[in-house]
Amino acid sequence: MTKKHQTLGEYIIENQNSFRYSSGELSKLINALRLAAKVVNHEVNKAGLVDILGAAGEVNVQGENQQKLDVMANNIFIETLRNREIVCGIASEEEDDFITINSSDDNHQNKYVVLIDPLDGSSNIDVNVSVGTIFSIYRRVTPIGSPVQIEDFLQPGRNQVAAGYIVYGTSTMIVYTTGDGVNGFTLNPAIGTFYLSNPNMQFPENGKIYSVNEGNYIHFPQGVKDYIKYCQKEEGDRPYTSRYIGSLVSDFHRNMIKGGIYMYPKSSIAEEGKLRLLYECNPIAFLAEQAGGKASNGFTPIMDITPTELHQRVPFFCGSKNMVEKVEEFIQKAN
Ligand code: AHG
Ligand code: MN
Ligand code: MN
Ligand code: MN
Repeated sequence: MTKKHQTLGEYIIENQNSFRYSSGELSKLINALRLAAKVVNHEVNKAGLVDILGAAGEVNVQGENQQKLDVMANNIFIETLRNREIVCGIASEEEDDFITINSSDDNHQNKYVVLIDPLDGSSNIDVNVSVGTIFSIYRRVTPIGSPVQIEDFLQPGRNQVAAGYIVYGTSTMIVYTTGDGVNGFTLNPAIGTFYLSNPNMQFPENGKIYSVNEGNYIHFPQGVKDYIKYCQKEEGDRPYTSRYIGSLVSDFHRNMIKGGIYMYPKSSIAEEGKLRLLYECNPIAFLAEQAGGKASNGFTPIMDITPTELHQRVPFFCGSKNMVEKVEEFIQKAN
């Protein structure tokens, strides 16, 4: 049940028993993410004032230049979770390998793992455009009482217990699901409290926005090129509108509210596309499906893919149900 002016804290307590695993551990975990989000929000907001814009000088495991805020957000989320001993492991876009969290009594009783893209859209940091954080939560599959293993992280997206994102935008929001619909909470920065602002978010079945880096058009597979031409054709409710921020979180958030499709296809220069299955595509796919939308690699629902490696990339088509089905049709026809 959702109430007017309900805070995220109240919502978590009220819905604790309806969470799929109701030991209270998941509630504590979401509370910790809420806290870390506020800290990152504070850092992102003052980024222009202090020396935390720009490159950190390191290249991450993805082959990308890490930004200072990538590193900062990564540390804030990891330390917040580590200090509270509420997860048994964390995997991050910014870390080469997964991190084992040892409980102080060393008996490893925590059952959840978190996978995280600490700062999404980091190329937008320096130009004051919205960035985000994406998180994904699974129940470990190896026995409680032992250190986490790689198979705890390499689970298909269908196994997700919860997923969500924070968007540090014109206002800061947490949007998340525990498998029972999608709810959005907006931060009142004056008092540091998130309020339920977007209960039961729903993807419109159809949309008029397509979001893709069209600069890569020449490298796209024929089916994707054909679909883009379809979007641009004057017929029925087309041409569609093109909107691309370059922050998956922000592009997805807009499309979920207004109706649209986000695409990051594979290409002749990026065999598997760019987006990471575990930190970006699975959590966003879970949210999309929970809001009545779809997420696919062109052939298979994203959440049905069994991951083989931590930093695996995957082509990604996500958004309004009818738009995703249409691009799948084009891709499969040209294949
Ligand atoms: P990140 O900043 O976490 O590395 O993710 C960047 C991703 C995603 O947010 C965005 O949609 C996409 O990369 C943009 O890529 P292009 O610049 O190639 O369009
Ligand atoms: Mn990155
Ligand atoms: Mn990202
Ligand atoms: Mn990132």
